[in-house]
Amino acid sequence: MKQIIVNIHHLVNVREQNVLLRGTSLSTLPVIQNAYLVIENGLISSYGTMDTIPENMLLNAVVTDAQHATVLPCWCDSHTHLVFAATREEEFIDKLQGLSYADIAAKGGGILNSAKKIAAISEDELFEISYERLYKLMQLGTGAIEIKSGYGLTVEGELKMLRVIKRLKNKVPIPVKATFLGAHTYPQLFKNDHKAYLKLITDEMLPAIARENLADYIDVFCEEGFFSVAETKYICEKGLQYGLKPKIHANQLSLNGGVEAGVEMHAVSVDHLETMDDKAIAALAFSDTIGTMLPTAAFFLRMPYQPARKMIDANCAVALASDYNPGSSPSGNMNFVVSISCIQMKMLPQEAINAATINGAYAMGLQKEVGSVCVGKKANLIFTRPIPAIAYLPYSFGENLIDKVMLNGLFL
Ligand code: NIG
Ligand code: FE
Repeated sequence: MKQIIVNIHHLVNVREQNVLLRGTSLSTLPVIQNAYLVIENGLISSYGTMDTIPENMLLNAVVTDAQHATVLPCWCDSHTHLVFAATREEEFIDKLQGLSYADIAAKGGGILNSAKKIAAISEDELFEISYERLYKLMQLGTGAIEIKSGYGLTVEGELKMLRVIKRLKNKVPIPVKATFLGAHTYPQLFKNDHKAYLKLITDEMLPAIARENLADYIDVFCEEGFFSVAETKYICEKGLQYGLKPKIHANQLSLNGGVEAGVEMHAVSVDHLETMDDKAIAALAFSDTIGTMLPTAAFFLRMPYQPARKMIDANCAVALASDYNPGSSPSGNMNFVVSISCIQMKMLPQEAINAATINGAYAMGLQKEVGSVCVGKKANLIFTRPIPAIAYLPYSFGENLIDKVMLNGLFL
């Protein structure tokens, strides 16, 4: 079926070629004003300005009037933990009363709290609640997503989470990438025997995951009190033996060499980056690893924001993601991620939109399918309510400016 969308006010992020954007190229957001867009079998097949529509094209196609909506590629959220059994608002209260993220983790809350809940829930129920969460995110414009395990921390628990992610992959109309995060924290049982837990990851979890083909990437929470740089490298090397490339949690709470380790291992991305120094920025700038910033985690935990300007100016390739999880970012709303990146990290609207679309697609290896308006890519598109300018999107934070979301050429 051929569809034409006419009367698009701004058609945003139109690109003939795929390039991972870094430095000054991040601030170039190609836009066609007063545009049309043609979609065939769910894929973008051509576009142009309204005054150049070939007349015969309108005859044989289903025509949709965008009524001057701005149309942009759906958000590509390259870092989430959206499969979880229960929210943790009681810890939110603890935090309001003065406990830190590390204090809560130390008293058995945090990730371990979520792990207890994963053990108690059935796979079917976990799937249902995760599907509902993901559906809500699609309505908020997310058109490709990465989801991690990491609240199982046992062979059965990690497999349960990854099987749920696999079921989501098969059910939802957007690309989903699965990441194995068995090394999220040391479970209680292995508190004093880290070696034994590493062995469980490498000798039991990884082979079982490979047998069922449950993961695309491997992740480690490289952080003081969690997994050291040496342990991170060890786990990632084992993951690579099963074809899982690393995408790691680095430099969130402390400066511990996680970014440099990720760069050394050619990680697809190093994520969080609240705590960065010039050395870590330089290592990232001269690498093929993407720096994925998670500003809503910094916002929620009241931590310093990621030094986006310094990283962009140093020529790092950066992406933006939501980190949706019950502990540090209980929202997967990428519209807010884009807003806060501009408001708090001084990213330009063009930079934030690029970082949350095409660079996010790269951070999931999905750049050939999504992330820009490009011939052959999926028609996964956000249609806004009428807005005066693209900058109005991040400026008008908290307002839902999405009118409709299209996935594979169909309105959700
Ligand atoms: O990305 N930092 C580690 N993991 C998650 C939080 C996990 C949790 O608190 O449940 C994050 O922020
Ligand atoms: Fe995370």
